[in-house]
Amino acid sequence: MLDFEDDNSDVSQELRKAQSSDTDAVRLAKESLNDLDIQAGIADLEGSVGRVNVGDKFMINARADLNQLVPFKYDWAWQKYLDGCANHWMPQEVNMGADVLLWNDPKGLTDDERRIIKRNLGFFSTADSLVANNLVLAVYRLITNPECRQYILRQAFEEAIHTHAYQYCIESLSMDEGEIFNMYREIPSVAKKAAWGLKYTESISNPEFKTGTPETDREFLKNLIAYYCVLEGIFFYCGFTQILSMGRRNKMIGTAEQFQYILRDESMHLNFGIDVINQIKIENPGLWDDQMKATATQMILQGIQLEIEYAHDTMPNGVLGMNADVMEDYLKFIGNRRLTQIGLPEQYPGTTNPFPWMAEIMDLKKEKNFFETRVIEYQTGGALSWD
Ligand SMILES: [Fe+2]
Ligand SMILES: [Fe+2]
Repeated sequence: MLDFEDDNSDVSQELRKAQSSDTDAVRLAKESLNDLDIQAGIADLEGSVGRVNVGDKFMINARADLNQLVPFKYDWAWQKYLDGCANHWMPQEVNMGADVLLWNDPKGLTDDERRIIKRNLGFFSTADSLVANNLVLAVYRLITNPECRQYILRQAFEEAIHTHAYQYCIESLSMDEGEIFNMYREIPSVAKKAAWGLKYTESISNPEFKTGTPETDREFLKNLIAYYCVLEGIFFYCGFTQILSMGRRNKMIGTAEQFQYILRDESMHLNFGIDVINQIKIENPGLWDDQMKATATQMILQGIQLEIEYAHDTMPNGVLGMNADVMEDYLKFIGNRRLTQIGLPEQYPGTTNPFPWMAEIMDLKKEKNFFETRVIEYQTGGALSWD
C-alpha cells in the first residue's frame, strides 16, 4: 500500500491559490495539478509499488520496480558501468594527421592495405549502428534489471561513439562516403554478416514482442547469443586484428588508435553479454535444453564461418605479416572461446592463438599506459585539421 502520511496538502493548497498576477496559463497549470492522482500515477510505474527486495530481482520477467537501482543484485553489472565510464574517450582526441598524409600519398600504402582499411570501415560503420539499434530498441526493453540497464545505457553511448569514430576516420581521409557506407549492401562478404545479424535480431525488434513464455524467453536468449557472442564477439575480430596489425607496423596509427579504444569497449560489452546470458541460464534452467544448446552452437559456428569468409575476401594475398589461413586459426580459437564462455564444448580441437598480442590490447588492467597518448583537454566541435 502506498503511504503518503508525510504529504503536507495544506502547503500545496496555499501555493496553488490563484494570484492576481497569474496569467490564464499559470492558473490552468495550478488547477490541473489538483486533478493529479498520486496513487494512480505511482501504480503505473513498471513493476511492484513496494520496496525492492534483492530476491525479487531477475534478469528477465522480473516484477520488482525497475526505477529503483539499489539494492544491487548483480554487482558485476554496476562495476562494468563504472569501468566503462572510467574509459571514456572521444574520436576527436585522436590525431589523424599522419593517416591523412599516408592515405593521400600514392605510394604510402599497398592496394592490399587500402582494401583492408576500406572494407573494415565499410563493415563497422554500419554494423555498429545495427548493434546500437538492437540494443536500445529491443535488448534494453526486455532486460528487467536496473543495474544491467544502467550498463546498457553506457554501452549504447559507446556504440554511438564507435559509429562517430568510423565516420571521423572516413571524413578525415576524405573517402567516398557513398562507397563506404553502402558496402554492407554491395560487398557480399560484408553483406552476409549484416544479413545474418539482422536475421537473428529481427524478431525481438518487433515492439509487440514480449518475454514470459518458454518460447519467447528462448527467442530472446537466442537473440542475446547472436548479438553478444556473434555480432560483438566474432564479427569484429578479423577486422580489428587487421587494423591493429597495421598500427603495430606504424601505418595508419590514428585509425589504429581509434580501433584500439573501440576494441577495449567491445571486449567489455562482450563480457557483460556473456554474464547476462549465463545469469539467464541460471535463473531459467529449463531454457537451456539440448535443443537450445545445439542452436547456440550452430549460431556461433555460422558466425565463425562467415568471419573466415570475410578474412579471405579482405586478404586475398598475404599482408602485414599475416594471411587468411592464419586468421582462420585465430577465428577458430575465438570460436572455441565463445562456446566455452557460455558452457558449450569446443568445436575446433587443437587450435591455438596466433595473435596473443590481441588479448593484451583487450585486457584493460594490463596496459596501464593506455591513455598516455590522449589529448588531455576535450576539443570543442569536430575540428578535422591538425597543426
Ligand atoms: Fe561498438
Ligand atoms: Fe559493442
